[in-house]
Amino acid sequence: MAQLQELKRKFVQQFGSNEEIIKIFQAPGRVNLIGEHTDYNGGSVFPAALTFGTTLLIAPRDDRKLGFASTNFPLTKETSIDNVTFSEEDDWANYPKGIVWELAQRDIYLSQGYNLLFHGEIPNGAGLSSSASIEVVTAYALLVMEGKPTDTVQIALWSQHAENEFIGVKSGIMDQFAVANGRKDHAILLDCDTLKYELVPFQSGVYKLVIGNTNKRRRLVDSKYNERRSQCEQAVQDLKQAFPELTLLGQLTLEQYRANEHLIKDETVRRRARHVVEEIHRVSLSMEVLKHNDLAAFGLLMNASHDSLRDLYEVTGIELDTMVDAARSVPGVLGSRMTGAGFGGCTVSLVHQDSVERFIADVGSKYEAATGLHPDFYVCNIGDGVRELKGEV
Ligand code: GLA
Repeated sequence: MAQLQELKRKFVQQFGSNEEIIKIFQAPGRVNLIGEHTDYNGGSVFPAALTFGTTLLIAPRDDRKLGFASTNFPLTKETSIDNVTFSEEDDWANYPKGIVWELAQRDIYLSQGYNLLFHGEIPNGAGLSSSASIEVVTAYALLVMEGKPTDTVQIALWSQHAENEFIGVKSGIMDQFAVANGRKDHAILLDCDTLKYELVPFQSGVYKLVIGNTNKRRRLVDSKYNERRSQCEQAVQDLKQAFPELTLLGQLTLEQYRANEHLIKDETVRRRARHVVEEIHRVSLSMEVLKHNDLAAFGLLMNASHDSLRDLYEVTGIELDTMVDAARSVPGVLGSRMTGAGFGGCTVSLVHQDSVERFIADVGSKYEAATGLHPDFYVCNIGDGVRELKGEV
């Protein structure tokens, strides 16, 4: 592929190494179809991998150093493989560094240095998991280069651990899991408590998944995200009166929750918990309706998910709400919701193929008129998880 050849040229230009020894890996971004803010509560999620993501070119070097470069950012970084620490000024390079650090936590020490060139196609900060994509592709590539097993469930867990402990963002497992384990034309039903998962064929036929990027710069996402997490923990503490063994909200059925909701003292915390338990229930309802390929019913569940994230979990905001409202008013749209952490980022809508053009025009102009921001749209196909490109090069 012409683009890969071009990337190889850039690699050689950057690091001066021989083209023959470059290996190429790819990991996708992800979109979550339903099950939002449920993963860190031990609930279920239903994400899918995208057909675009991060490409990584990697080759060994003769010393014990790591060279990091990206086609997206000017910053380059060189560091010793023996002493990898977080540093604010290293910016994006902290993500691959975090993986090297993580592997060392697992007693996997690199036997030699490497040069790595990243090429990202996921818009930054759009909530489509660009960081998980970098983490997972780095872990997979380094394990292959070192001749170690590449268990993609383990890679997801290690990448999440690096994100939590090295980067300091307390995200759940969904993003890394979807990026590592996605499959073309399938969504992943993942139980985030047991990590049992099922690849569910997502046959949307004449309906297309359309991602709308609000291009709203997400601010304070991490602190608000962590605040939601601790509110969920607070709810668990209160509910322990009735369920002494409870550790995660996802362990309760909707009925158990409803009968005991009054034990949660704080009204805000109660609304957060209600979202989580009802959202997990919506994921199981989604599986029921999708078994019969009832996309209209799934669309209604997507709508209900967004409304709950807006009213109970309060993670949407004017941009996401405006875009979702505009989307729902277009004929041929079965459902529309925010996807990912929220507070800006993207929406996902299920749109009849004949309406896609009108959708993009109408939603785009209404959104821009209301917010002054120019949105982007991607008609999305579901792609594969992390892999090495061999024949394709
Ligand atoms: C972010 C986190 C995920 C998940 C979603 C919300 O994408 O990284 O772990 O919690 O938000 O569903």
